[in-house]
Amino acid sequence: MEPWMIETRQLTRSFKDTRAVDGLSLQVPAGSVYGFLGPNGAGKTTTIRMLLGLIHPDGGEIRLFNRRLRDDPMGVLRRVGSLVESPSLYPHLTGRENLEVLRRMTGGSRSEISRVLKVVNLENAANRLVRNYSLGMRQRLGLAAAMFGQPELLILDEPTNGLDPAGIHEMRELICRLPAEGLTVFLSSHLLSEVEQMVTQIGIVQSGRLIFQGKPDELKARTRNQVIVATDRLEESQKLLVQQGWKAVHGQNHHLTVPVNGAADAALINTRLVQAGHQVYQLSMEHPSLEDIFLKLTEEQEKK
Ligand SMILES: Nc1ncnc2c1ncn2[C@@H]1O[C@H](COP(=O)(O)OP(=O)(O)O)[C@@H](O)[C@H]1O
Ligand SMILES: [Mg+2]
Repeated sequence: MEPWMIETRQLTRSFKDTRAVDGLSLQVPAGSVYGFLGPNGAGKTTTIRMLLGLIHPDGGEIRLFNRRLRDDPMGVLRRVGSLVESPSLYPHLTGRENLEVLRRMTGGSRSEISRVLKVVNLENAANRLVRNYSLGMRQRLGLAAAMFGQPELLILDEPTNGLDPAGIHEMRELICRLPAEGLTVFLSSHLLSEVEQMVTQIGIVQSGRLIFQGKPDELKARTRNQVIVATDRLEESQKLLVQQGWKAVHGQNHHLTVPVNGAADAALINTRLVQAGHQVYQLSMEHPSLEDIFLKLTEEQEKK
């Protein structure tokens, strides 16, 4: 049996008449960086709050480390570190002092403070007041706090939200190194582009339901290549291609997008257009980016 670090079965939770999470079955492999993705309002935070025992499900089951959360919440959650929304920090204390407060509350050694500061690359800033930290530094200190006590699983809700590109880059570098330290990371985001480079697994939710789960490559493999073509008379070109059975649609700017199977199709499209007397200005083949696929998937679901 696969050693799932997180497994949910038909997890469900409503607020009044909103079904925030609807029959969600997730499987998070050990050692993965799992990107839990979906547009705002999809149910990510509600799911994470249930995983952390902060709210109770209406139905379904949560297993962490192959144990049911409700059988032993304290025992299970002791092995989990988390960062939900912005970290609660004392601005008038230094980074190190903030962790010292945490250490006194939860126990643990002083060397543990140095260890986590090192992991998040804040050793040099440890004696500065948090008030003077950038948002990215605060977020990293929050992550250090989440890693205190050597958890096996980190659950992070939108850890890149609000960070500038440099902050996102630092967070990404940091998170990518965690599996090598024996950690499994489960993180949410409403922007695939921000987490694409660090995740090894993807789960996409929309309206509380899981619409995809698998590796990034599996998500890519679900879509076809497309030909981008620009001509001197787009409307007619589109008509012509549609008549011949291609699913040509207007892309942004002045071009058509045509899903195809391979290079032979690109050549055929070119020939047909030229034979009909259309001037082809541009013709290229591309694979949709993960972000395109993500947007398309979540849009399609919205219409249902
Ligand atoms: N405490 C709450 N009371 C009422 N509705 C809520 C509450 N928390 C979340 N919701 C609703 O549940 C849905 C999912 O919200 P949320 O889990 O925060 O989504 P996400 O984190 O993906 O943006 C939304 O429609 C939201 O308005
Ligand atoms: Mg949220």
